[in-house]
Formats: sequence, structure tokens, C-alpha cells
Amino acid sequence: MMIVGVVGAGTMGRGIAQLALQSGLAVRLFDSFPEVLPAAKTKIRAGLAKGVERGKLSQEDADAAFGRLVLAEKLKDLEPVDFVIEAIVEDLQVKKNLFRALEAVVRESVPLATNTSSIPVAKIAEDLEHPERVVGMHFFNPPVAMKLVEVIRHEGAAGTPFIQAIEMAKTMTRVPVEVKDTPGFLVNRVVRSYYLVAMRLAAQGAGSYAEIDAALTRAGGLRMGPFTLMDFIGLEVNFKITQTIYEGLGRPERLKPHEIQAALVAAGCKGRKSGKGFYLYEDGKDPVENPEALALLPDERTVLPDEVLFDRILEAIHVEAKIVVETGVAAKDGVDTAVKLAMNFPKGPFEWAEAAHA
Ligand SMILES: NC(=O)c1ccc[n+]([C@@H]2O[C@H](COP(=O)([O-])OP(=O)(O)OC[C@H]3O[C@@H](n4cnc5c(N)ncnc54)[C@H](O)[C@@H]3O)[C@@H](O)[C@H]2O)c1
Repeated sequence: MMIVGVVGAGTMGRGIAQLALQSGLAVRLFDSFPEVLPAAKTKIRAGLAKGVERGKLSQEDADAAFGRLVLAEKLKDLEPVDFVIEAIVEDLQVKKNLFRALEAVVRESVPLATNTSSIPVAKIAEDLEHPERVVGMHFFNPPVAMKLVEVIRHEGAAGTPFIQAIEMAKTMTRVPVEVKDTPGFLVNRVVRSYYLVAMRLAAQGAGSYAEIDAALTRAGGLRMGPFTLMDFIGLEVNFKITQTIYEGLGRPERLKPHEIQAALVAAGCKGRKSGKGFYLYEDGKDPVENPEALALLPDERTVLPDEVLFDRILEAIHVEAKIVVETGVAAKDGVDTAVKLAMNFPKGPFEWAEAAHA
């Protein structure tokens, strides 16, 4: 049976480990803080139990899956693994050190995958003896529920580990989409305009946060409007992603971080987790717009019709999607698939554009 070594037992590592286990694989889970491991094991068991409750797997399969989990006390315990997925802290130097240490432990034929969300995969690989074995596998949170995996190929990557990563994603019942190693990879970059154009429109007086959110859910059948979604993700997390992509791509005006978000982040409005973002969150109450955030909008507003707001935002997403395809970052159908799966959008940017012009 194939053994997957998962390094990092935090939010993502635990989810990836559970997914591998319930997909019939064996897992060795390592974390540099060993005290994290027993709690991770308990959470994985609870995750498998939830799967049983929801009818996703039988009790027998869940028990067998749990039985295939081994906690690795030392990195050396990963020696027998056939595939490694790294999900440790998002820090280039720490990741580099780990990959160098892994190279000394696991067989040369074993692919080393990183779940980084923003660091160029080539940078993580650059000092290794065999950088060609490194590949990006960008899972989304929570890995058990989110079907998409962006499989990222850096320039020095060899074909075999890349193909093995695609196969691994499929074995784990995910949908792999091939992506070139560029800032923000695929989804995070293509959907930047969902947030940025919404903020620009609000700043121009085209609608309040709630008005724009409502317009998009009505016009596009989207589950969460951009402001609700930013609050959900965490305003500072979302802001950092925008900054990384903007800087990484050489500061294109269309992807410039917005001052409304900068001001809210500076004021400690991080969204849902801090109780306030674009909205205020109080226990037992429906969210209402945050007066601190509303104060950043012009007093005079002319709310644009739903379709106009929707078209402006979708058009910007479509522009980015076209650039991504034209520059060989991903294929057209890969973009549509990835955006639908990661964002829960009913259509991808190209499908939307085609429907609009039909
Ligand atoms: N959280 C998300 O939504 C999300 C989504 C996609 C990708 N990612 C990426 O996944 C990775 C992990 O994110 P997370 O949210 O699970 O973080 P987390 O902080 O929840 O977990 C990280 C774990 O790594 C461990 N760790 C730190 N340094 C280590 C080392 N040198 N060796 C072994 N273990 C080490 C920590 O003890 C911790 O348990 C990051 O690269 C992040 O960018 C996160």
C-alpha cells in the first residue's frame, strides 16, 4: 500500500492526511512540534466520524482509514514513504530547510510536494540536489470538502513527479488542474478582481457593501458576495494575497491593493474572526454593515443596477483569465474548472463570457 508522508499537522496537514486516509492510502504524519500530533490524531478521528455521519464513508472504512495513520516522531520516520506533501508554516527559509532535510531521508524517486499558497515553488526547490522532484500541490481549505488541487509545475520540474502529483490528486478524489509556477498560481490571481473591483465600485459610490453583495448573489447566483467572502477569509489574509500577487507580477494597476482594505486591516478589522470587517458580527444576530467601514465610502451613492455591478466585476475577472491563458499559466477549461470549484461559482469566467455573448 502506498504511504503518504504529510509534514505539518496544522489546519491543512490534518485535512490532507484525513483525505489521504479515507482515499485508501496509508499516512505518516510529522510535525516539528510533537505535542501537536496527539491533538491532530483526535481531530482526524473526529473528521472521519463526521464523514460517517454524513454518509460519505462506512464505519468500517473509517476505522480502517484511522488504522492506517501513523504519527511520526522524527523526520527520519518518513523514510519508507512513497510521496511527501508538505503543509508547514508559510515561510520560505523554513520550507527550504525542511526540503533539504527531507532529501536526506526519503528515496530519490519520491516526489516532494508543497502546499504553499504563495511562495514560488521554484524557490523552495532551488537549493536541493534534485529540484526536479519538487512540485506544488495547492489544496484549498478544508481539503476534505474542497475538490480542487492546483498542481504547480516549476521550470526545473521533471515530468514524472508532476504526473505522479496529478495521479495522487486523483487518487485522493480531488480534481487536479495544471498550473505554471507564477505569482498567486491560478484561482487566487484570477479572482482578485472579484474583491478589488467590488471595492473600487463601492469607493465610487456605486453601492454599499451589503448592496453590492446582494446584487452579485441576485444577478450571478453566487453564494457569497465579495465583502461577505473577504470577511469570511480574513481581511488581512486576503489583503496579503493581493499584495503578493501585485508585487510578484510587477505592480500592474489592475491588481493594485485597495485603500479601503488597507485602512480596515490597519484598524484591526479582520472580518468574522475579529467580530468586525465590512460587517459587524455579534453572537445570535445577523451581520450588519460596520459603521467604521461605511465611513470609508462617499456619502452620496447612486446604486448601480444588479446586472451592471455583476458585469463590471465579471468583465475584470474575464480579463485576468484571458491573460492567464495567453501567458500559458493554465488552459481555458482548467481556469473555468478551478474557479467554479474554488469559489462555488455556477460558471467559470469563460463560460460566463460565452453565455453573455450568446
Ligand atoms: N489555511 C489555509 O486556508 C491554506 C490554504 C491553502 C494552502 N495553505 C498553505 O498550507 C501551509 C500550512 O498552512 P496551515 O493553515 O495548515 O498552517 P498551520 O499553522 O495551521 O499549521 C502549520 C503546522 O506546521 C508545523 N510546522 C511548522 N514548522 C515546521 C517544520 N519545520 N517541520 C514540520 N512541521 C512544522 C506547525 O507546528 C503547525 O502544526 C502553508 O504553506 C499555507 O500557506 C493554507
